[in-house]
Amino acid sequence: MQTVRIEASTPYDVRIGAGAIEHLGAWAREVLGKCRAAIVTDATVNALYGEAAEASLRAAGMDPIRFAFPAGERNKRLSTLEDILEWLAENQITRADAIVALGGGVPGDVAGFAAAVYARGIRFVQVPTTLLAAVDSSVGGKTAVDLRAGKNLAGCFHQPSLVVTDTAVLRALPAGLRSDGAAEIIKYGVLADPALFAQMCRPDWADGLDEIVARSVAIKRDFVRADEFDNGARRMLNLGHTFGHAIEKCSGFALSHGQGVAIGMAIAAGAAGRPELCAAILRANRNCGLPVECPYPAAALARAALSDKKRRGGRIALVLPEEIGRCRLEEIDVSGLEDAFRRGIEGMEAAKRSLK
Ligand code: GLY
Repeated sequence: MQTVRIEASTPYDVRIGAGAIEHLGAWAREVLGKCRAAIVTDATVNALYGEAAEASLRAAGMDPIRFAFPAGERNKRLSTLEDILEWLAENQITRADAIVALGGGVPGDVAGFAAAVYARGIRFVQVPTTLLAAVDSSVGGKTAVDLRAGKNLAGCFHQPSLVVTDTAVLRALPAGLRSDGAAEIIKYGVLADPALFAQMCRPDWADGLDEIVARSVAIKRDFVRADEFDNGARRMLNLGHTFGHAIEKCSGFALSHGQGVAIGMAIAAGAAGRPELCAAILRANRNCGLPVECPYPAAALARAALSDKKRRGGRIALVLPEEIGRCRLEEIDVSGLEDAFRRGIEGMEAAKRSLK
């Protein structure tokens, strides 16, 4: 097992390894003390891992209860949050108890938000079961639900007390979910780690999954430590996201978050005027089963991006790659966004022609 310590306002461990769920109960008890554990998950993950998580917590004397809501991003909404809060109250969960968020980004974000607001805040443990949740959403304390106007528009910062990542669970993921997580790992490589980026360009990239997850979490830790509340350096983690969210939105969310981010990073490199970086990102994307095409025109993408919460007033911050392992933030006026998309897409098209 590997441990990465996150130094946020509440410090906590991310424990990573094959079979980690078997240790969930003992580790939760070690960190939380003896209390009740309220597992919140979705129906898909519940069928696969609900019993294993509950059994581990029961064996450790954590008196578990379990709630599963229907799977899917469309259920990351206020009515699900309300159902969870009512269920916690009906079961007399108190401020001494804790939530265990079991699943991908949707259960993690909504259960984390429930933990942040129930009884004015209780502790919670993240147990990510997708690669994307393992390397991104389970770490750093962002919790949220979606509103009709956009994703993650209602939420707050609430750090977990522990993150337990079972890499045997991640290895069992279908290819699409694995690719989705790969996009965020490529992102960490472009932001901070040429060796990690090079790993994502190898056909056998997933062989070193424990190390890749630990390295990704350690990179995220550094950005969270520098700027927990996302006003400065942490905004670098949005590499590919302003462009990527717009692509997801234009597709009516038929394209996944990871697919959007993958194309978004290539567009960012194109917009930065770095064709060689753009080609390198496209190669990594292709290796990991991620897209290398942008299916929408700049004007439609710019319109979709303008409702993004990363916009601050009339300005929007773009993360632009300088080299593999180093990026910079550039604030531009929103009126320049369509042009940035246009330059990015043109750069991406040119880089694609250079791919062997
Ligand atoms: N997913 C980006 C962040 O946690 O800041």
